[in-house]
Amino acid sequence: MISLKKYGIDFEGSVEDAVALPLTAIPPMKMTLYKGTIMWSRGNGRLLSDGTKAGGGGYGDLYLVDVVDAINGRRKKVYEKRPREQQTNLLTEACLQIYARQELAKYELAHTVAEPLDIIRMPRYCSFTMAPFEGVIDLHAALDLVIDIKGPAFDLWFLQLLVQILIVIGLLDTEIGVNHRDLKGDNILISGQSRQRTGTLMVRGRKWSYTYMNEVYIVDFGFSCKGEVTTGNASVSAGPFFGLHDTCPKEGRDIFILFCYFYGRPVFRQLASDRLLGFVRRLLAVPRVLEHLERYGTERTEYLYLLLNNREFNSKHCSAWTVLAEIASQWPAILEVSAA
Ligand SMILES: Nc1ncnc2c1ncn2[C@@H]1O[C@H](COP(=O)(O)OP(=O)(O)O)[C@@H](O)[C@H]1O
Ligand SMILES: [Mg+2]
Repeated sequence: MISLKKYGIDFEGSVEDAVALPLTAIPPMKMTLYKGTIMWSRGNGRLLSDGTKAGGGGYGDLYLVDVVDAINGRRKKVYEKRPREQQTNLLTEACLQIYARQELAKYELAHTVAEPLDIIRMPRYCSFTMAPFEGVIDLHAALDLVIDIKGPAFDLWFLQLLVQILIVIGLLDTEIGVNHRDLKGDNILISGQSRQRTGTLMVRGRKWSYTYMNEVYIVDFGFSCKGEVTTGNASVSAGPFFGLHDTCPKEGRDIFILFCYFYGRPVFRQLASDRLLGFVRRLLAVPRVLEHLERYGTERTEYLYLLLNNREFNSKHCSAWTVLAEIASQWPAILEVSAA
């Protein structure tokens, strides 16, 4: 169940019903003048500027927009995600992100996913704004900046990030029923500040205690899906790539593709210790996968996406909880597991 009332949409019900709402269920934005500037408003006192392009992938564009509270004049900058193809409706992506945050809140991890702030209906498309993560860098770029640590020191930095990713993705996968389906370095952000902290998670009668420095955030639910945890029957699918025939959730798929991403980056293979590389190679020990990654790197990923899409292909050995248990046994300084 989700509620869209705070977005000005009179809806409370299942995610499945929410994503099927017609565009007309969303109050339209109207042009208005605020202190001589053109802004957009839905009559809720919040005004949005036109926005400047801040980035873009294959399917969407990210804009930086000003939001002004017309009553107290307070301004802040937020990100707006707009579809590249104007007929695409980003309501599905927004609803899955709202749902993921709501369910992660039960584990005090809502802050690891960006909060959708406004759902926007324009004449031909629907977009949404979200709170920006401040002072972050994406993990793809971060890997290129790691030059002075290698071997066990790199493993420590990497595994502290990986444990947090595994926890969030594991909860989404096996407890919440959501798969991300596009997990890679540029969809993972890490916080700049680095002070040693500890975290704990209770799930399925086990207590995970971990140490970390930089905090991890997951973005881009543009390919994500929701389904029944027990059967893998998909009921919601965002984006144009996968359909409802794709098993969702499919245990371990996000982690499998994430390890493919890491192994496909030469910089990762250069910096990781032999022990960590051996660990990753064992998880990816599927015919032709390692060779494919060594040859094409992070290009030509369609092959891997289609492999995961295949019902015959089982990714359960990459279940977050299995991988976490392995990390706890091999690197106990980073992660401990005990009976809750
Ligand atoms: N809430 C956010 N805060 C900070 N940076 C963000 C946020 N959302 C996205 N980004 C940055 O913008 C990039 C593109 O956004 P993303 O949602 O991944 O769109 P795309 O579908 O185009 O890949 C991300 O890789 C990330 O670096
Ligand atoms: Mg992205």
